[in-house]
Amino acid sequence: MTNELLNEMNATNNVNNANSMQIIPSRLQKLVPSIGIFYTRLPLRKAFMAYNQKYGITKRQYICISFNEIRHILNLAQILAMMKEPKQEVVVDETAERQNTTDTRALEAWVGMEENTPRTEEEEGDDSSKAPQHHEKLERRDRSDSLKESIDSLSLLPDRALFPGPKLICFDGDQTLYSDGSNFESSGSKLAKYLYLLLKHGCYIAVVTAAGYEYQTAKYELRLTGLLAYFKDRGLDEKDLERFYIFGGECNYLMRLGSDYKLKPVREDGPGGWMVSTTHNMESPGNWDEEEVTSILDMAEACFQKSLDDQNMRARIIRKKRSVGLIPQPVQKIPREALDETVLRIQNELETDKVTLPFCAFNGGTDAWLDVGNKRVGVQVLQSYLGIPSEETLHIGDQFLNTGNDYAARSVCPCVWITSPEETTYILKSILRLAGVPLLAQLSPVAEEKEKTETDVRRNSNVDFSEVERRATRALKMDVYTGEYISDNISS
Ligand code: IMP
Ligand code: MG
Repeated sequence: MTNELLNEMNATNNVNNANSMQIIPSRLQKLVPSIGIFYTRLPLRKAFMAYNQKYGITKRQYICISFNEIRHILNLAQILAMMKEPKQEVVVDETAERQNTTDTRALEAWVGMEENTPRTEEEEGDDSSKAPQHHEKLERRDRSDSLKESIDSLSLLPDRALFPGPKLICFDGDQTLYSDGSNFESSGSKLAKYLYLLLKHGCYIAVVTAAGYEYQTAKYELRLTGLLAYFKDRGLDEKDLERFYIFGGECNYLMRLGSDYKLKPVREDGPGGWMVSTTHNMESPGNWDEEEVTSILDMAEACFQKSLDDQNMRARIIRKKRSVGLIPQPVQKIPREALDETVLRIQNELETDKVTLPFCAFNGGTDAWLDVGNKRVGVQVLQSYLGIPSEETLHIGDQFLNTGNDYAARSVCPCVWITSPEETTYILKSILRLAGVPLLAQLSPVAEEKEKTETDVRRNSNVDFSEVERRATRALKMDVYTGEYISDNISS
């Protein structure tokens, strides 16, 4: 049943007639030719019903469903699809009835979740979709109360080895874990706590980011300062820390957390080295020809220079070992159109030049890059290195347009498309809730007490804690494009 449904959704069906295997496009592919691969069933109806129960979209009289709401419903369907019944082995083709019992309880808990989906900029600016009226808010609160019982009944402590959600969650960095060009500064954020809880429940976490500073681990640590401080503060165990990876330069530099809360390069060569053990994948960096790498970078540099000249951009070009970047001059902003034009030029040039190595040309919001390698390879290498299949991997990112760099991950695992770190936080909270993880009870008694005290102090204080944290780390500033350290002249 499930396989038939997946075949129907996926791009091609194999039709076995008497003499040959004939490949015909699915109905969905005919309607949407650019459709990707589905690795799981997508319980769209269930997700829509829950979302509608939470937000009452069908009760609206004037405003129809928006693009962002559809994105949220698809995201919910995707995370629901990855939830297995707690305390059971992975069963891919469960019957609809068996899934129903767990999903219903978990979904009710999700509907009752205090926070609503963070609103995106477009929605904020759109008068026609203003925040709900006061009476609607009250209605929601009542509904939450009536659902409290089912939330409480969900406070089971799942066996860590049998966490019913995804086994590997890959995260984009910029605009997914921290704002574009910023660092993960706050060690008091919910996002840090949810990542901690996922690690505690046996999940593998990997930041798969285009940002590449070779194996200079301190530079990635700087970008993750607040998160690593949170892990240290809570005394996360070595075996949990070892499930935290970062892939820098898309798929070029693999690092893992060690017991001292610092990143260590994962060995590339020799027995068990990540590069040698993934050479069965032809796209893996272990198979790259250095001459072709150089010629791609030369081509990209020339193309970026021409684009810069043609469009009179206030920008400069930087070249690294595995990437070329077009970055703004200090305090200048490169228009989106100029960045997109640059990306489409290079994509077109490399495609027509029949480049065989994987690459990614993308608009990063403030800059444009050509990286040798991409997130498809990054996620795939992690999957084979860790032995985790596509249907148990989830990639969360913000750039799924054809000029974005998360798009490449779509071909190797299910994805969730977010637009801000706040939305990532919400998705992780949803995953934990749907998996039945109590959001406080998993901390050790000491950590739990600390968590409560800190939350109370923050709530009852006029102090701007993010400013305090920013000042505390301000001595360590880095140009996120080049990786150069910069001195901070701001007087306190
Ligand atoms: P991501 O969103 O985490 O994949 O990070 C993308 C951002 O990383 C880009 O927009 C750049 O600002 C930054 N970056 C720093 N170094 C590199 C590089 O070598 N290649 C691509 N992006 C880089
Ligand atoms: Mg990003």
